[in-house]
Amino acid sequence: MRPLSGKIANIAPSATMSIAAQAKALQAKGIDVISLSLGEPDFDTPAHITEAAIAALRSGKTHYAPGRGIPELLSAIAEKTTRENNSPCTSDQVIVTCGAKSAIHQSCEAVLNAGDEAIILDPSWVSYEPCVQIAGGKPVHVPLSDKNFQPDERLAEAITAKTRMIIVNSPSNPSGSVLERDSLKMIADLCIDHDLIAVSDEIYEKLIYSKVHHSLGAFADMSERTITVNGFSKAYAMTGWRLGYAVAPADILKQMDTFQQHTTSQATTFAMYGAVAALTGSQDCVHEMRDEFRRRRDNVLLGLSDIGLETCPADGAFYTFINVQGDDMLVTSEWLEKGRVAVTPGFAFNAPGWVRMSYAASQEQLDTAIERISALYT
Ligand SMILES: Cc1ncc(COP(=O)(O)O)c(C=O)c1O
Repeated sequence: MRPLSGKIANIAPSATMSIAAQAKALQAKGIDVISLSLGEPDFDTPAHITEAAIAALRSGKTHYAPGRGIPELLSAIAEKTTRENNSPCTSDQVIVTCGAKSAIHQSCEAVLNAGDEAIILDPSWVSYEPCVQIAGGKPVHVPLSDKNFQPDERLAEAITAKTRMIIVNSPSNPSGSVLERDSLKMIADLCIDHDLIAVSDEIYEKLIYSKVHHSLGAFADMSERTITVNGFSKAYAMTGWRLGYAVAPADILKQMDTFQQHTTSQATTFAMYGAVAALTGSQDCVHEMRDEFRRRRDNVLLGLSDIGLETCPADGAFYTFINVQGDDMLVTSEWLEKGRVAVTPGFAFNAPGWVRMSYAASQEQLDTAIERISALYT
C-alpha cells in the first residue's frame, strides 16, 4: 500500500452522508425507503434569492471577487449581526466562506496549534471533531446533561492548561435542543477565566420554536474571544450554494483570511449576490419555512410519543433526537431494513443509545415513516 496522509486516513467518513447513501442505494433498487437522515431543508431556495443570483450571472459577475466577500454582502452581514444578535459589528469583522463548514474549519486552522485541546459538547455535529483534527488540534468530548442537554460541572472539569477552544452549537444538530441563557453565561465565564476562544455555531438560529436564541458573542467581554459562525444553508434553503460566514476578532479574522486566500480563494461570486438578497429582502420566506417545520415537528413528536419513544426537547433546528434505550446501530439498521426508514445512529454524534430523525421531509413522508416505525413496535 502506498503511504498516504495518516491525518485523513484516521478520520471516519461522515456517518450522515453514508446512511443517506445506503438509503439512496436501496431506493435505486426500487425499494421505497423514506430518508430522514440528512440535514437539508426540502424547500426550494426562495425565488427572489435565485433571481438575484441569476441577474448577477447575466450581468457578468463571474470573476474573482475580494477574498473576504463582496462589500455589499459583508455590510449586509454586519448590519444583520448588529441588529439581530445584539453584537455591534462592522464589515471588516466578517469573512464569507464556502459554507459554514468551511468557517468552522478555518476557525480551527486559525486558532489551534498542534496538540491544543478543543472542547466539543456532546451530542455534537459530525464535522467538529474532524475539523479540529485536520487543524492538528486534539478534540476533547464533554457530554451535555442528558436530562436537559445543557452543560454541567463536567465542562469546567475538562479544561486543562492545553485547552484553547470551546465549540458551541445552539440550536443543536443533532439534538434540536437550545442552550439556555444561563448555560451560555457559564460558557462565557469559563472562556474569560481560562482565556479560551469560543466558536459559536449559530446556523440554526432562525429555526427556533419555543425558546429564545442568545448569541455567545453578545455576552460581556466575549466579542474579543468569539468566532460566530452562521450561513445561508438552513434558514434560506441554500445548502447547495455553499455560502457561510464568520464574524471574528481582528487577529483571528486575519488568519482565516490568509487561510482562505490560499485554499478556496473566496466564496462563489454570483452566489454572494443571492445571499445579499436573502439578508436584505423580506424575511417572510424564513418565517413560512420555520412555521412549516414547527407543524411537522409537533406531528412527529406526537407520533413518536404514541409509539412510546422518548425524545429530547426539540426546540430548534429540524431534528428530533430519540432515546432508543439500546444499541442505536442495531435500531437504525432494523428501521432501515424492516421499516424502510433511514435515520442516523447516535454514535455518529457521540451519543450512543439515541437516533436522530430529521423532519425536513414532507408531512406525508413523515406520517408514513411514523406508521412504519409504529408497526415495528406493535
Ligand atoms: C450544526 C451545523 N453547523 C454547520 C453546518 C454546515 O453548514 P453549511 O451547509 O453552511 O456548510 C451544518 C450542516 O449540516 C450543521 O448542521
